[in-house]
Amino acid sequence: MDYDIKDIGLADQGQLRIEWANKSMPVLDSVKERFSGEKPLAGLRISACLHITTETAVLARTLKAGGASVALCASNPLSTQDDVAASLVAKDAIPVFAIKGEDTETYYSHILSALKNMPNLTMDDGADLVSSLHFIALNRWDDVSQGIREWGLSLSEEERNTLIDCVMGGTEETTTGVIRLRSMERDNVLQFPVISVNDANTKHLFDNRYGTGQSTVDGIIRATNRLLAGSTFVVCGYGWCGRGVAARAKGHGAKVVICEVDPLKALEAVMDGFEVMPIANAAKIGDFFCTLTGDIHAIRKGHFLDMKDGAIISNSGHFNVELDLPGLEEVSTSKRKMREFVGEYTLLNGNRVYLLGEGRLINLAAAEGHPSSVMDMSFANQALSMEYLSKEHKNLEKKVYPVPLAIDREIARLKLASMGVEIDSLTPEQEQYLSSWEMGT
Ligand code: NAI
Repeated sequence: MDYDIKDIGLADQGQLRIEWANKSMPVLDSVKERFSGEKPLAGLRISACLHITTETAVLARTLKAGGASVALCASNPLSTQDDVAASLVAKDAIPVFAIKGEDTETYYSHILSALKNMPNLTMDDGADLVSSLHFIALNRWDDVSQGIREWGLSLSEEERNTLIDCVMGGTEETTTGVIRLRSMERDNVLQFPVISVNDANTKHLFDNRYGTGQSTVDGIIRATNRLLAGSTFVVCGYGWCGRGVAARAKGHGAKVVICEVDPLKALEAVMDGFEVMPIANAAKIGDFFCTLTGDIHAIRKGHFLDMKDGAIISNSGHFNVELDLPGLEEVSTSKRKMREFVGEYTLLNGNRVYLLGEGRLINLAAAEGHPSSVMDMSFANQALSMEYLSKEHKNLEKKVYPVPLAIDREIARLKLASMGVEIDSLTPEQEQYLSSWEMGT
């Protein structure tokens, strides 16, 4: 079996951590039990470009139990847990191509290895796998890394067509990936149906909000060991992730300031009790900054120069473009590593700014990503969407689709049941009332 990981000797440690995560993933466990009997994915090859964490390991085992042959690569150079990668290779015979801290060329060479699996189904977190696949199929050689270009050019046109033709469909985990896929659909280049797992209620309402909220604050605290209480904590972006981070930072006693571009979100932040202001003003007062916008350069070089001496900047959005890092380099006279995940930049004006985790998702760089209890629902959506695509792909167009509502609701039902929470059901009288327009007072 081909694989590329840091150290196979870490497998025992990884296995224990996967077992620990699995204890909080009852919904995915119930899917795995059914998959083991029914084998809905028998004979299918799945290539998955995901953060290689304990929760992803539980998902990969579920897909394998369903009969699929799975190959994994990382969806971010800093998010791999090397012991988990080792355990998947050594204990589950699942090929993994991912090493924490890999450089960009290696990152894409790992995506290439996953592509060589000739997937029938793809899974993405940020759309790097699907976009690479499309760049090859569309002969867009300027847009791919050297390794992918060389391999793609070594294929005949027929082989390149086969590569894309054998994909029945894919899934996308995160907001940024869905935005990329929607623009592929709009430009008429999307070659197969993709399910936006991110848009399922049982995904973004919980994973983006509570998962990113808790783990981002966890990452900032682990990286810095600084006290949040009494500090001013600036959150850029009040979407699902930003709401979660703001709520958790407030819970730690920070004074939270929100920066937004959308008037509705900004209004919501005001009514949730936060101060709202442009980043140009917030830059001057923040002790901590965290971007979660899915956008480029939410904090720019002029803002860095306006910051207080000692300001701490971080990002938890998908790509490391939310902080203008080239701009930061331009206005810096020197930099040094202070401690793990903390880079000190001395600016032209003598102030120092501390960059966490090289501007990559801080919850995965310095902490362990989302807690497994919340990934239980996100990844149940992934597993069930794989099953759905395998059955329904012929009836789907080359578009981005939502997770079917029946799957979303079933996951919520299973999660509640696993928590021992019971809810009411409508009485016949209520059902009639809610479905009629004739009844008034
Ligand atoms: P969202 O679309 O719900 O929220 C993004 C918000 O940022 C929007 O309200 C938008 O108006 C605002 N925004 C855009 N440009 C801005 C700017 N220049 N300044 C201030 N605000 C701006 O998206 P969501 O789900 O909150 O995701 C945000 C990012 O986090 C995405 O890149 C997503 O892929 C990523 N993500 C990261 C996770 C992690 O583990 N760290 C987990 C889930 C998502």
